[in-house]
Amino acid sequence: MIAEIREHIAGMDAKSILAYLQRHFAKETIFSTSFGIEDQVLTHLLYEVQSEIDIFTLDTGRLFPETYYVWNRTLETYGFPIRPYYPQTEKVENMVREKGPSSFYESVENRKECCFIRKIEPLQRAIKGYQIWITGIRADQSANRHDMEQVEWDDVNKMIKIHPLFDWTLEDVEAFLKKHFVPYNPLHDKGFPSIGCQPCTRAVAPGQDFRAGRWWWEDKSKKECGLHATSK
Ligand code: ADX
Ligand code: SF4
Repeated sequence: MIAEIREHIAGMDAKSILAYLQRHFAKETIFSTSFGIEDQVLTHLLYEVQSEIDIFTLDTGRLFPETYYVWNRTLETYGFPIRPYYPQTEKVENMVREKGPSSFYESVENRKECCFIRKIEPLQRAIKGYQIWITGIRADQSANRHDMEQVEWDDVNKMIKIHPLFDWTLEDVEAFLKKHFVPYNPLHDKGFPSIGCQPCTRAVAPGQDFRAGRWWWEDKSKKECGLHATSK
């Protein structure tokens, strides 16, 4: 299946990739949105191709208020049902009781524990039963992502991952949002190119690395939460 998809979508633009997935694999495919700018482009394109592909988001419980704002605007604009997944209450309660509400600043282990409870475990439930996972990853978001491929085998989750915007630059994404009046997170205009959980994301200075504001207190090499770190 992966060889067939690779062959078919080679050279296709993002919209054609989504149209192809809708035509041939609508039931087997799922799209994850964090309501970041790339995901907003994909949502817009999915709307244009009249997609029936399922969409989910992971609500970690620590998102920015602005993310809920753009989540609402997305529902109003496109009308897609977006299924939210939440962490297991007991796991969060135990972690916060033992370590407090900001344990992620104390060590990489604690941070990974929080990401596992709030993102990875819910992700595993969200993608279960699907064969293809669409994300908004772009190659130039980080050095690690440069080494990924547009269509790749996710050996941990045993599924195909497709990044239709893989070759897009930040400028391409911003130009698309503007041209098509796509709703996007207002934090984006305040220096947040990449937006995750509120306590773990801050603004970056102009010219600074795209993901410099994510887990900024950690060593650069560790800065993936595990949603995508295992790809390739
Ligand atoms: S992360 O690994 O650092 O959190 P990033 O924010 O760059 O990921 O987003 C890359 C892609 O991962 C998004 O385009 C989206 O497909 C998926 N993703 C990230 N966070 C979430 C989330 N909270 N809910 C759903 N999908 C997400
Ligand atoms: Fe927890 Fe921060 Fe990971 Fe969000 S990004 S799940 S708050 S450690």
